[in-house]
Amino acid sequence: MIGIICAMRVELDRIRENMEIREEQECSGIHFYLGTMHGKELVTAVCGIGKVFAGICAQTMILMYHPDMILNVGVAGTLTDKLDIADIAVADKLVQHDMDTSPLGDPKGLISGINIVEIPCDERIVKTIAECVHELHMNALVGTIASGDQFVVDPSRKEFIVREFSGIACEMEGAAIGQVCYVNQTPFCVIRAISDSANEQSHMDYPEFVKLAAANTANVIDLFVQRIRIG
Ligand code: ADE
Repeated sequence: MIGIICAMRVELDRIRENMEIREEQECSGIHFYLGTMHGKELVTAVCGIGKVFAGICAQTMILMYHPDMILNVGVAGTLTDKLDIADIAVADKLVQHDMDTSPLGDPKGLISGINIVEIPCDERIVKTIAECVHELHMNALVGTIASGDQFVVDPSRKEFIVREFSGIACEMEGAAIGQVCYVNQTPFCVIRAISDSANEQSHMDYPEFVKLAAANTANVIDLFVQRIRIG
């Protein structure tokens, strides 16, 4: 089974259009939709915005459905001139840019307990998604996606994320889902279409481009589900 988590309905609606939904179940305030896409079993959910909701959703999905993999799909702000509006950022690793125990001598972004800064994505999923975006003639970049509980618009914050973590895109859930998948040994990846440039223009760009960006990721997911081998 493939698990798909989006933060917002607008991000998941286009994916669900390609899905035959069989059943809806609710747990921890999250609605899980079970069904198939191209004959493969899927569970999808809207988790809500931010790292805590994302973590709740991923852990609940894992305990209830034991998915073979989890994909976090949605939109992001770009941190590089190589990614423009509607382009695709594919994570090969995730960081939490607002995690900071550096006053205690730790590296910035260190997740204590698992003691890593970068949460690695599943290599086979990353490779398959990269092949799908290439086949769809989309402009895409594979790299570090940075998550934090803030909508990034401040240039100095943007510079910090690029300098400290070499982030290519910023969003608010991916690394939390990544942390949950990491501790549960569930393969995962994050795929985000660019909705804004993470700057003072973002509050205008974001509402205008969020639907276009969501349509692009839905096309990638459709092809990915066809291509990926499960089990
Ligand atoms: N998601 C989309 N754009 C974003 C931004 N600029 N910061 C954080 N999350 C985002």
